[in-house]
Parts: sequence; structure tokens; C-alpha cells
Amino acid sequence: MSDTPTEQDRPRRAGVIGWPVAHSRSPRIFAHWFAETGVTGSYERLAVRPEDFAERFRALPGAGFCGVNVTIPHKLAALELADQASAAARAIGAANTIRFDADGRIFADNTDGYGFIENLRVGAPAWDAAAGPALVLGAGGAARAVIHALLEAGAPIIRLANRTRAKADALAAHFGPRIEPVEWPARDTATGGAATIVNTTSLGMTGNPALELSLTDAPASALVADIVYAPLVTPLLATARARGLATVDGLGMLLHQARPGFRAWFGADPAVTPELRRAMLEGQP
Ligand code: ATR
Repeated sequence: MSDTPTEQDRPRRAGVIGWPVAHSRSPRIFAHWFAETGVTGSYERLAVRPEDFAERFRALPGAGFCGVNVTIPHKLAALELADQASAAARAIGAANTIRFDADGRIFADNTDGYGFIENLRVGAPAWDAAAGPALVLGAGGAARAVIHALLEAGAPIIRLANRTRAKADALAAHFGPRIEPVEWPARDTATGGAATIVNTTSLGMTGNPALELSLTDAPASALVADIVYAPLVTPLLATARARGLATVDGLGMLLHQARPGFRAWFGADPAVTPELRRAMLEGQP
């Protein structure tokens, strides 16, 4: 018998670090997966102010954490503090999934783009990113992950419409010539010929105005996705469905982006099931 810790002895503590973090849905996802897989572990909410982030983050492995999800406003800081980062985290410029390795190294990943694409693949198996241009609405943090994922999936061109044009231009400079910024008022015509239409803005969320987007010019083959998941059927998705277009809601992205963390920290591959979706919606108006 050796006293050297083995893989089995490694701590099984994880969580989500943010400020504020009370609203995070991630603990509910992990609770469902712990019950389903039989894995013993904990997943905690870690409310940490920006000024305390670096110190608290670095102290987590010593407190038995094998990894954490990172949410607003720490996604950039987590990437900067990591020893190593995945290509996705570097391209997106933010980290949402951290692994603390046994040798003390910190590995940063970003699974938002993976979650977005995986949700489209599962929710709309006939969808093909390469079939035509994509139209992305919004140029914030979520847009960066969606754009990265669409480029990786083979979208030939991404038309990018944002209220503040300068932010779309900045993303075009970052991601390269396949990004074509379009003026916000031109977004309706930009649906013409699109294979994929994605809302990454906060419009359509409960309490916010709807995203006004005419889908009259969109081809019958277009897939319409919203990253907003409250309500589950946003006004955009309702319009798309009324026109007979395929749609994918935002809840699936949230669920799929959590899977790589569970795999990395707890060694089991959890599934995104109708039961999990129902569990997430319980208590929601
Ligand atoms: P996230 O990180 O979730 O993407 P964000 O960085 O705050 O959040 O980005 C929010 C996005 O929603 C932005 O693209 C924002 O447009 P601006 O860049 O012009 O601010 C968009 N957005 C929010 N409210 C909007 C509104 N009323 N009309 C149009 N776009 C809006």
C-alpha cells in the first residue's frame, strides 16, 4: 500500500463561481446528474466578488475542488489565471469550465460553443451549418461562443447584426473574413438564404422586449435558434414555428455546455434527457 493519492482518492468537489451566483441553474443540472449516474460529488454555488476572485480561485484545489464552472463576471479572469487553455477558450476569449489537475496546473476550457452546436445537432439532426450563411443577432459574450462554434461547424459566412455596429466590427476583426457585419436595421433582409439564424441578444427574455425580426425572407430550410431559455418559446421561436421553420430553444445549450465539466470532474458521461429538461422547468412560470 502506498500513501500516494490515486485517481480514486482525488477529491470530487466542484461548483460554479460568479457574482452574483444565486440565479445559476447549474446546481440543478448537477443534482440531477448525481442522482442519475450514482456519482458521489458535490456542486456548490461560490459567490465571489471580482476583487477577491484571483485569491479565492487559486485556493480552490487546496480546498478539494477538482474543477469549477465560471460565470459572469469572472470568465475572462479565469482564462487569464489558467496555466493552459483549450483552443475554444482562447478563440472565444473566455473560460467557463476549469479543471484543477493533480499536479496543481489549471486548465481552462469554454464549452458554450460546444453546448450550442451539440444542441442544434441533437435538436435538428438534418441541420447542416455548411448549407448556407448564418445570421447571428448580437455581439456580446454569448455571440463569441456561437460564432466560434458556427465557424468550426463549417458555416461559410456569418452575417453579424448588432445594435452597436462597432461591436460587430470588433468581432469581425477577431474572427476573420467569414464574418460580415450588417447594420441592425438590415437584419430582416439578412435572413435571405440563411441556413442558420441565431439570437444571442437578451431580447425576448422575460421582462425584455421581443427581438423584432421578420422571417419572411428566410428559406423554408432555415433553422432558427434562440439562446434565451426563459421563456422556453421566445417570440422569435413562436414566429419561426408559425412559418413552419425548424427551431431549437435555449435550454438545450445550457444543459449540453455542462456535460464536459461533469465528464472531466466526475468521470461519467451524463445525458441530456427529457426528464432533465422537465426538472429544469419545474417551478418556472
Ligand atoms: P452576453 O454576454 O449574454 O451576450 P452582453 O455582452 O451584455 O451579454 O450582450 C448583450 C447583447 O444583447 C448585445 O449584443 C446587445 O447589443 P449592444 O451591443 O448594442 O448593447 C444586445 N441587446 C441588449 N438589449 C438590446 C436591445 N434593446 N436592442 C438590441 N440589442 C440589444
